[in-house]
Amino acid sequence: MDPEKSGESKDKAPEEVTSAKPTESAATETEGTTPAPAPAPAPAPAPATAETILPAEHWEAASTADPDDDSALDEPLPSTASITSSIIQYRTINGRTYHSERGNASYWGANDEQQMESMDIAHHAFTLVLEGKLNLAPLDYGKIEKVLDVGTGTGIWAIDFADEHPQTVVIGTDISPIQSTWVPPNVRFEIEDCTEPWTFEPASFDYIHMRFLVGSIDDWTTLMGRAYQACKPGGWIESMEPSVHIESDDGTVSDKMALGQWGKLFAEGGRKFGRSFEVHEKGTVREALEAAGFVDVQEKNFKTPIGGWARDPRLKEIGQYTQLGFLKDPEGYLLFLAHALSWSREQTLAFLACLRRELKSPKIHALYRQRVVWARKPE
Ligand SMILES: C[S@@+](CC[C@H](N)C(=O)[O-])C[C@H]1O[C@@H](n2cnc3c(N)ncnc32)[C@H](O)[C@@H]1O
Repeated sequence: MDPEKSGESKDKAPEEVTSAKPTESAATETEGTTPAPAPAPAPAPAPATAETILPAEHWEAASTADPDDDSALDEPLPSTASITSSIIQYRTINGRTYHSERGNASYWGANDEQQMESMDIAHHAFTLVLEGKLNLAPLDYGKIEKVLDVGTGTGIWAIDFADEHPQTVVIGTDISPIQSTWVPPNVRFEIEDCTEPWTFEPASFDYIHMRFLVGSIDDWTTLMGRAYQACKPGGWIESMEPSVHIESDDGTVSDKMALGQWGKLFAEGGRKFGRSFEVHEKGTVREALEAAGFVDVQEKNFKTPIGGWARDPRLKEIGQYTQLGFLKDPEGYLLFLAHALSWSREQTLAFLACLRRELKSPKIHALYRQRVVWARKPE
C-alpha cells in the first residue's frame, strides 16, 4: 500500500489513552488527537528473539555507507574527558564517552555533548507530547516543597520545573555529572546511583519524577520501594517511559528495516546485561508502583510520530522534534549496545546509515509508544 496516496495512516497516529487501569482494560477513555471512538490499543510487539534479529553482516550488504554518516564516530573527546576526577573517567567506545562502570550502575547511552543535545531535543518533544506540561500528576503547586528527579540527565526537566515553581526545591540525581551549572537557585544536582540504597531522608519529597530510565534499572520493584520510602504521605510519583520498538500503523516500518530492528536489538541487549528495555511492553512501572504500595495509579499512553509525516500540525511538530533528536545522535544510543552484541565498527556504521536513511524518508510513517504512569503514596 502506498500510504502517501491513501493518506489513511496519517490521520490515525498517534493516539492517547488515559486509564486508571492498564490499557488492556476495557475502561479506557481517549483524549486529544484521535477522534472517538478510541482505537483499541494495539498488542505490544512480540518479544524479540535471537531469530528475529538480523545478523550484523546484513547491514553491510544493505548499505553503502555514506562517509558523512559516520563522522560523529570520529569526533574528538569533549574537553571534560581530560578532567581526572574518578567520577568522570569515562569509558570510551569508538571515540564516544560513556559513564564509567562503578558500583551497580551501568548505563548504555553516551554522556557527551552530542548525546546531551539529543536528550535536550527529546525533552522538548516529550513536553510537546504532554501539551506543554512537565507532569501529569495532580500536584498542589502552592504546597509542594521538595521534588526529586531521578536520572536527571542534563537536568533539563529539573531546571524547567524549578523555573515554573520557584518556591519548590528540585533535586536532580544522576550517575553522570553532565548537568548544567547555570541553574535556577532552587535546583541542586547530586551524583547518586538510584539502584543503590537511597540516602534521602524518609518521607521528604512531595513529588518524585523519573523519565527515560529504560535499560538502566535492574530491579524496578526495589527502585519504587525506595521511592515510596522517600515520598511524603500524600505525595506523588510519576514515570514516563518509551517503548524501544519502532513501528507504523500502515506497514511502512517492517522487521527487515533498521527501524524495525532497533527495538529488537535493544530488547536483546537488555536481556544480555540484565536491565530490561521492555519496561513499556511488560507494564513494569505500574506493577512496581503497585507492589511498592502506591495507590490511585493512573496512566496515559501515547503514540509518538517520528518525522514530520502527520497531518495534524501539533503531531507534525512533535514528529519533527522527535526525528531531530534521534538523528542528532543515533550512534550515542546504539554504540554501547552494538559493542555488547560484538558488532564490528563497519557493521555498526552500515546499520546506522540504513537507520538514518529510513529516519529521513517521508514515505516511512514511523512511530513509537510512550506511557506516563502516576500514583500517590497513601496518607
Ligand atoms: C536517557 S537519559 C534520560 C535523562 C532524563 N531523565 C530525561 O528524560 O531527560 C537516562 C539518564 O539516566 C541516568 N542513569 C542511568 N543509570 C542510572 C542510575 N543507576 N542512577 C542514576 N542515574 C542513572 C543516565 O546517566 C542518564 O543521564
